[in-house]
Amino acid sequence: MAKHPHHFACQSCGASYRKWQGRCDECNEWNSITEEAALTSGTPKGLGGKRGRAVSLVGLEQTIDSPERLTSGIAEFDRATGGGLVAGSALLIGGDPGIGKSTLLLQAVAALASKGHDCVYISGEEASAQIQMRAARLGLGQSPMRLGAATSLRDILTTLDESKPPEILVIDSIQTVFADSLDSAPGTVAQVRACAAELISFAKRRGTIMLIVGHVTKDGQIAGPRVLEHMVDTVLYFEGERGHQFRILRSVKNRYGGTDEIGVFEMTGQGLSEVANPSQLFLSDRASDVAGSAVFAGIEGTRPVLVEIQALVASSSAANPRRAVVGWDSGRLAMVLAVLDARCGLGLSSSDIYLNVAGGLKVGEPAADLAVAAALVSSLSGVAVPPETVIFGEISLSGDVRPVAQADARLKEAAKLGFSKALVPANTKSGGNHLKLESCARLHALVERFALDGS
Ligand code: TYD
Ligand code: MG
Repeated sequence: MAKHPHHFACQSCGASYRKWQGRCDECNEWNSITEEAALTSGTPKGLGGKRGRAVSLVGLEQTIDSPERLTSGIAEFDRATGGGLVAGSALLIGGDPGIGKSTLLLQAVAALASKGHDCVYISGEEASAQIQMRAARLGLGQSPMRLGAATSLRDILTTLDESKPPEILVIDSIQTVFADSLDSAPGTVAQVRACAAELISFAKRRGTIMLIVGHVTKDGQIAGPRVLEHMVDTVLYFEGERGHQFRILRSVKNRYGGTDEIGVFEMTGQGLSEVANPSQLFLSDRASDVAGSAVFAGIEGTRPVLVEIQALVASSSAANPRRAVVGWDSGRLAMVLAVLDARCGLGLSSSDIYLNVAGGLKVGEPAADLAVAAALVSSLSGVAVPPETVIFGEISLSGDVRPVAQADARLKEAAKLGFSKALVPANTKSGGNHLKLESCARLHALVERFALDGS
């Protein structure tokens, strides 16, 4: 059989090809495919007869102590990082330009420096004087952290090698750093990957905590390679809507803690301030007694969060009615609409539908289905959901309402915020809360409740 000693691999997504081509079919990246030497077979013989070094294999029992964590004292930041920063770990903080990444890191690192940790902040985007000005405005001028403005990887590594490496190093942003050994421009896939690999290997070698800022492209991915996400230990996204002052720091990957944890901040004139009770904030501007609004009792990470879901159903004369969704999955909306149509006889196919999660939060849980359905049905019927009611439950394709996890925590948060009723899946226990539970086993029951039985 003919041998293929070489193959071609996409450097962005890892897809492999027999022939070179200009564009990767998997990720549509241009010029990302390069030739790689293939391993012929997995045995030591196949590696040219040379034997490697045998690695020691150990059991699962712990032989070293759990890692020490550095906490900044900014509780929302510490929570999103899984309880503090671990020595030698690399973190990626992604987000849209202008969302507040530099502000967040300046505040967090200044707090860590004030607690006696050696912190260095390297900026490739702003001059040191600009950062000093911002620090003075935020009242952080006295923090003993050190600043540097540099974009050359060689300069950055030389600076770090001159003295004892810092405990915490911020690189803002990875798209501005370049390695002069590569021809490509800063911010390209090759540069971002090479610089990140070099910086992360420095961090691991010297035990420095590396915080890398990465800008996000229009389609929501960290610019350049997804591979950056594989290289770091923790990936945090800093999200928020431009028009809102709320910012959410969301952990999407964490080798040292739980994911889906969020930290909530508010952007003020004096920088980012923590929001200890996000539910109160997300519900603060809510007008009660308006049709098309429902309060969803959700869980973000380990924390219950109440949010308002708003829906507007408007008649449309267009051939393809509009479906606009902010803060929720549009595929999931299509599913809820299909179930309302097929199981409850509510034809919404000729209506424009707008769905919005108030406050700029992005809800990912299927448990929000029932609240979304309630907001839609309420908007259609003009009957408001009683203002003191929270709703949660997952809708199945059959039209049943399925139970969801952590019902207790959701109800407890609702009771704490003064809600008195809850519309929940059947068999949900109140768990000692003083809420009046109304169970809803089928979606049909919800539609009937709003006197809109379409059958
Ligand atoms: P920045 O941290 O520079 O964003 P990023 O690093 O993600 O690009 O934040 C810039 C925005 O934050 C800017 O539009 C102004 C706003 N901002 C405030 O509203 N208050 C403040 O105290 C600071 C420092 C910034
Ligand atoms: Mg910035």
